[in-house]
Amino acid sequence: LQLDDKYLEPETKEVNGILMTKMISDNWDNIWNFQARPDDLLIATYAKAGTTWTQEIVDMIQNDGDVQKCQRANTFDRQPFIEWTLPPPLNSGLDLANQMPSPRTLKTHLPVQLLPPSFWKENAKIIYVARNAKDCLVSYYHFSRMNKMVPDPGTWEEYVETFKAGRVLWGSWHDHVKGWWKAKDQHRILYLFYEDMKEDPRREIQKILKFLEKDISEEVLNKIIYHTSFDVMKQNPMANYTTLPTSIMDHSISPFMRKGMPGDWKNYFTVAQNEEFDKDYQKKMKGSTLTFRTEI
Ligand code: A3P
Repeated sequence: LQLDDKYLEPETKEVNGILMTKMISDNWDNIWNFQARPDDLLIATYAKAGTTWTQEIVDMIQNDGDVQKCQRANTFDRQPFIEWTLPPPLNSGLDLANQMPSPRTLKTHLPVQLLPPSFWKENAKIIYVARNAKDCLVSYYHFSRMNKMVPDPGTWEEYVETFKAGRVLWGSWHDHVKGWWKAKDQHRILYLFYEDMKEDPRREIQKILKFLEKDISEEVLNKIIYHTSFDVMKQNPMANYTTLPTSIMDHSISPFMRKGMPGDWKNYFTVAQNEEFDKDYQKKMKGSTLTFRTEI
């Protein structure tokens, strides 16, 4: 991997009002024109909602619980992150996806209105995972501290405001979860919640199995539950992002596999910040039937 200052502390640039890295923005025509295939599976999330976890579950299902096979490559090489754009000679998500034989499993953080239209046209299956706003915020804050490919979060106090205003990569959490929630009534979208996955991984993995029209034995299911648990994934170099150089992700600042628990926000929000956040949240989520649990 050739280090390149161009993607460290990246500049940002909007796409239709949504904050992106400048590299994504400048590559937008190619991303928008991405050609999905009918047998693609897309894992869509707001950043830090449990993407990597879901990716591992899906890969384990697709490989019938074969741990060795699932360690064939890093998460980001097994399942291309379609909009993620890097300067050549590094592989951008689009290049990886275009080179990949079918059936492909792809990842995106795009808000629903920015999803390349070919996904709708080809009727590809989509798994969306949502996580409560406060835990997403805390996780995104720490991730932004350790990952030099996304903008610096500033102080905690500053970041709470930045997040509330949606001035983070991929835009507003509120709009993201609401937008995909609405889309699920018109498309093949399995809408899952991080908190449910944590509460009962067996039940949620069974939902994924049904959605993928896959049958597996009880033994394989148990194996998948075990290998995709937080503690086991934390030790898996092909799933925990530790193969990247520390100049990109510095796990000594905060590990990618950080806590993996609903409710950690309570260790960060002051009483005043929490009240302000809730007030703003009520306004932004008003009228939506979507509800979250902030602890389990
Ligand atoms: P925390 O920072 O709260 O620990 P994403 O993959 O979308 O970037 O999300 C990362 C978050 O999911 C991190 O949250 C990470 O610890 C958590 N995570 C990753 N694997 C997990 C697992 N197997 N079980 C529970 N949480 C997991």
